[in-house]
Amino acid sequence: AETLGTAAAQSGRYFGAAVAPHLGETDYESTLNREFSSVVAENAMKWDATEPSPGQFNFSGGDELVAYAKQRGKFVRGHTLVWHAQQPGWVQGLTGDTLRQAMRNHITKVAGHYAGKIDSWDVVNEAFEGDGSRRQSNLQKQLGNGWIEDAFRTARAADPKAKLCYNDYGTDGINAKSDAIYRMVQDFRARGVPIDCVGFQSHLASNSDLSTYRQNLQRFADLGVHVQITELDVGGSGAAQANVYRQVTQACMAVARCNGITVWGVTDKYSWRAQETPLLFNGNYQKKEAYGAVLAAL
Ligand code: XIL
Repeated sequence: AETLGTAAAQSGRYFGAAVAPHLGETDYESTLNREFSSVVAENAMKWDATEPSPGQFNFSGGDELVAYAKQRGKFVRGHTLVWHAQQPGWVQGLTGDTLRQAMRNHITKVAGHYAGKIDSWDVVNEAFEGDGSRRQSNLQKQLGNGWIEDAFRTARAADPKAKLCYNDYGTDGINAKSDAIYRMVQDFRARGVPIDCVGFQSHLASNSDLSTYRQNLQRFADLGVHVQITELDVGGSGAAQANVYRQVTQACMAVARCNGITVWGVTDKYSWRAQETPLLFNGNYQKKEAYGAVLAAL
């Protein structure tokens, strides 16, 4: 029978899910096995999980997921090398060159550990504000504008095979934030800074305005990068929710360089937005109306 993964594969795309440590649960694992051709760790590859103290790395959660995926022929997205959130405490107080070296070492060790196994890495996550300015994170304040390209160059050296992505939310159309990211990607491409893809998280609601969603994906694709829907979830239920899922899927399908969609979880019951029931399977692993809409649009 057709699944999300096999349907997406017919056009050379993947269909993935974020995975949390529930692989022991029979229905969770069987749904993941059956429907999804790509996985990403919901938390296990973030800085706080992988380097809880300076230079001490813990790859246990990520390694388990990568082994699971490789045994079943699934792609792995890496999420995420550098982010203002979920940093371990020891990083938060670093300044100047000490922070720069900590960032470079983190990228080198984590991307190096997984080199050759990751299809796409979210190298930098959420570095812009809604108005298009740079988020005033510790990285930005301590290192200035150059930290993002520094992160991408370091990631390329550590894993030359992975596609390197910039990933963000609130970029679900043409707006001040996506304009700023567009200019950054355009500049990186012009100057040879290694960037291969842009991730659109797409944490949405049933009333999200998607009138320029496809057009926005297309303008990034026209810069020569892949675009990916990386954390899709849609608060709501029934036809309204299904309609948003349909529009996002159709937009990706209409853009040749949109090579995959990832939903941010398998089942509503474990979603970070559980009260909003934003995923494709309900708490009993039954297919929701949104599932049918996505499958039909792939
Ligand atoms: C979320 C996870 O789903 C939660 O389990 C965790 O407590 C916080 O982070 N943008 C991202 C993801 O890039 O890493 C976030 O994941 C959701 C928002």
